[in-house]
Amino acid sequence: MKKIVTILGARPQFVKAAVLSRVILEHQEIEEVIVHTGQHYDPNMSAVFFEEMEIPKPKYNLNVNGLSHAKMTAEMMVGIEEILLYEKPDTVLVYGDTNSTMAGALVAKKLDLKLVHVEAGLRSFNRQMPEEINRIVTDSISDLLLCPTDTAVQNLKNEGVQNVIQCGDIMKDAVAFYGKFSAEKSTVISDLNLTDIPFVLATIHRQENTDHLDNLSAIFNGLETIGKDVKIVLPLHPRTKKILQQRRLFHKNILFIDPVGYFDMLELIKNSILVITDSGGLQKEAFFNKKHCIIARTETEWVELVQHDFARIVGSDTKEMMDAFEYFRNKTSDFSINLFGENVGETIYCQIKDLVGIN
Ligand code: UD1
Repeated sequence: MKKIVTILGARPQFVKAAVLSRVILEHQEIEEVIVHTGQHYDPNMSAVFFEEMEIPKPKYNLNVNGLSHAKMTAEMMVGIEEILLYEKPDTVLVYGDTNSTMAGALVAKKLDLKLVHVEAGLRSFNRQMPEEINRIVTDSISDLLLCPTDTAVQNLKNEGVQNVIQCGDIMKDAVAFYGKFSAEKSTVISDLNLTDIPFVLATIHRQENTDHLDNLSAIFNGLETIGKDVKIVLPLHPRTKKILQQRRLFHKNILFIDPVGYFDMLELIKNSILVITDSGGLQKEAFFNKKHCIIARTETEWVELVQHDFARIVGSDTKEMMDAFEYFRNKTSDFSINLFGENVGETIYCQIKDLVGIN
């Protein structure tokens, strides 16, 4: 049997892997060995996804976390190298744009192994984002680049990268599959007394916001102001929590909750009036659940959402956030346009099969 080693480490990767690992298991043609780098380690940032989404248990956990970018990447690379030398896979699979992605990619190629990148070609064109560097490095050395959108394909063509294929966005499959069960599996709406209460779902965690106090204050001022009118529910990422506590920033109109699992997240999105976020994944999860999204960043990789007026970029500008909120709060849109493909897990699987030589 052919063997693939999958490198995971952070929350958005668990969601993507849940789809593809299920497809790999169903076909029984490829053995998948999962390596968890340990980048995300709190139970509500990691274990809950493996349990709820039935992701196969990682064979290895490197427990690398809470370090600077260089130390984190270096320690992951040392651990991954040892595993790849022992496992001798036919190919290595990485997802997205985290430090775990880049660490896995670099080691795979240094060992001359074939490398597959799922969610290739995304660009913010902002090289101050650590994720942008991780994307550029990973894409430039991957053997098979599986893109979620036409824009991503075009970005890679512009960079002269070969072996680029448009497969659609794997998160669409995740929302479609797990969305069928979320209402029955999650009690978050009643637990938070949100039944029939209009609320906005917000998340903020990106380094460009958390590490710049001006940005962070402006974003939270906007949320706090909207919160006087409509309830704001904000699952708090550990990075943001740490900074808000250190700076002694308090917000009485925001309902802060611990990070939630996938079923709870889907229910929060479905029951919200709209989403305000700096997350990449949540922008699309909002769209898949027919919700508008206000993007608290200065650019987005998911330009299709903005082009079709499903989302608006407001950066960390309080007034722009308020204006976007007024614009979207009662707006109805037709969300039926297909921007992100169909049956993406199977499409990606077929590409991987070809690469490892299964007919
Ligand atoms: C990482 C990714 C980002 C992705 C995000 C999803 C990189 C460069 N960034 O950012 O692309 O959108 O994950 O959440 O890889 N921490 C905990 N508990 C945890 C996880 C993290 O306390 O379970 C702490 C860490 O110790 C660190 C901080 O939160 O102090 C940030 O974690 P880190 O892994 O550096 O990156 P994220 O901000 O989560």
